[in-house]
Amino acid sequence: MSKRILIVGNWKMHLNASQASVLLHRLHERIKIHRAIEVVLAPSMLVLQPLSMQLDRRKFRLAAQNAYHKDEGAFTGEVSFSMLQDLVHYVIIGHSERRLHFEEGLEVVRDKVASAVRNGITPLLCVGETGQERHAGETKQVLHDQITTALSNLTADEIEEVVIAYEPVWAISTFEGEIAKPDDVGLSLKFIRKQVAELYGEKTAKALRLLYGGSVDDQIVRGYLELEDCDGVLVGGASLNYHKFAGIVDVAYQLSQERGDGDDNNT
Ligand code: PGA
Repeated sequence: MSKRILIVGNWKMHLNASQASVLLHRLHERIKIHRAIEVVLAPSMLVLQPLSMQLDRRKFRLAAQNAYHKDEGAFTGEVSFSMLQDLVHYVIIGHSERRLHFEEGLEVVRDKVASAVRNGITPLLCVGETGQERHAGETKQVLHDQITTALSNLTADEIEEVVIAYEPVWAISTFEGEIAKPDDVGLSLKFIRKQVAELYGEKTAKALRLLYGGSVDDQIVRGYLELEDCDGVLVGGASLNYHKFAGIVDVAYQLSQERGDGDDNNT
């Protein structure tokens, strides 16, 4: 069986506790348990705890959208990875909104990735070029710099546990929102895997899960999921709409069936 397809919904700074609870309830009703698919929800920090009580763990896992790399101390307003340990499986790190709006540089991202791994949480490391960098022909250089720095404090074994999401900034719905061509996404994903292979060896690169993110919805997700190097998707806007998000999971399930991985459909 190949890797489970990973579908992550990034709710960003949307939904208070009761709205989040309603959305989870709808998703629960609509999404079945599939062994071939892993569905992860990333709500705001505030609602992680209540959602964890409500959540059916056979269907969903939780991710935080951010955390601070120190374990504890006088850092007003921050929440550490160690505090999230029992609550989440994943943390999104290096999202372009954090890099651009909160000026998180390469070293900050590196420290967060290391802290997540140290605390037993899988980093969902986001990388991707801006529209300007793309037009200047700098995509590969940007990806190279973001990946090498972010992973530099990890061992090859630890890197196998990391998930890398390729999210070109120009394709994210709240930036330019241009729909990326699957062929172009495929080239970038291949480049990312090659980078990791050159730095940490083929075995590590093969084990690494790679996602695509940027304006993904139920209508266009298949083109990305069919790519050889794509192990799943990171979904922003469409994850707030339960029809669309569940539709994405349906497409992933169909694909896993076609590949002979999805022999289950339990509830
Ligand atoms: P989008 O967001 O799907 O709304 O483009 C993706 C993301 O920001 O992770």
